[in-house]
Amino acid sequence: MSKQKPAGPYETVATVIAQEPAGAVAYCLTLECPEIARSARPPQFFTISCHPLTGDGADGISLDPLLRRPLGFYRLRPEKGEFDAVYQVVGRGTKLLATLKPGDRVRVLGPLGKYISPKDVNSQTVLLAGGGVGLPPLYSLAETLKDAGKEPIVIAGARRRETLIAPTVPRKLKRPVGGRREVQSLEPFARSDIDSVVALEEPEDGFFEGRITVPLKEYLEQDYEGGVEIVACGPPPMVRAIAGLAGEKSVKCAAIMESRMGCGIGACQTCAIKTTSGYRRVCVEGPVFDSKEIVWE
Ligand SMILES: Cc1cc2nc3c(=O)[nH]c(=O)nc-3n(C[C@H](O)[C@H](O)[C@H](O)COP(=O)(O)OP(=O)(O)OC[C@H]3O[C@@H](n4cnc5c(N)ncnc54)[C@H](O)[C@@H]3O)c2cc1C
Ligand code: FES
Repeated sequence: MSKQKPAGPYETVATVIAQEPAGAVAYCLTLECPEIARSARPPQFFTISCHPLTGDGADGISLDPLLRRPLGFYRLRPEKGEFDAVYQVVGRGTKLLATLKPGDRVRVLGPLGKYISPKDVNSQTVLLAGGGVGLPPLYSLAETLKDAGKEPIVIAGARRRETLIAPTVPRKLKRPVGGRREVQSLEPFARSDIDSVVALEEPEDGFFEGRITVPLKEYLEQDYEGGVEIVACGPPPMVRAIAGLAGEKSVKCAAIMESRMGCGIGACQTCAIKTTSGYRRVCVEGPVFDSKEIVWE
């Protein structure tokens, strides 16, 4: 699975269209920003200022925090010039983002980083495994792969159903797994007719029990005529566990990595992670890496 660098990035101003809860623990922010909506390709990301612009076009009164926050693309609607991002409030910056309201204008920079082009994905089936706020970027990627004629299957992991970023609905799987045909699936994926299964550490009917590697193992036991590969996105320990299983089964795995960011454009090295070929910047050389390249610390 090779990675591509497209048009942009654009340093521009986006208008807030909507801000709604996404599950019990996150928010979905809808922004109008035609340049970014039309050029972004998953799993690229953008950075957003934590302060809306004031009437005279200057950034808001406070510059604390100064640095913009990186977010992935959940749903892209290039025809409308809009996109959605789902985020969790974890600190000061995201707490401020949660106060943005429709009509606010906010500085953004994107799209940033490399993307996965479906034509470079050799396998017909792609297992998209993730959790937390790693799931939204997998949605836009799943849609892109499906539109290109691939078979994306989403495998999600969470502690409890309430911590998922989307509700679940009963679904008959196109490809049964682990002896199950009917499961609870994530509603946004079901709406796009994409199979998804969920593993919960606190078990419930319709869900796999345990960590994300439980259903992933089941999928990796199956035969795939056109080949199979994995894309992982989520908290680093989860991505590491997925990459470990992929290694054991000799299945190719792309890891979408998160890192603290400064500039977002390759200048400050804040986001560098250790790889087998030295330190590499998540914002420029990533966020997608071959999982075999990552030196887990
Ligand atoms: C490429 C990329 C894409 C991302 N996409 C999303 C997304 O779609 N949705 C989403 O909710 N979050 C996403 N994140 C993480 C998000 O950027 C951080 O949660 C956010 O910047 C935290 O800002 P804060 O000021 O609220 O928290 P801070 O006060 O800066 O930090 C609060 C806590 O969060 C941790 N933290 C902060 N930034 C990161 C980070 N980048 N990675 C891991 N831990 C961090 C800190 O260590 C600290 O414990 C992404 C990060 C990257 C690098
Ligand atoms: S955030 Fe500055 S180099 Fe990546």
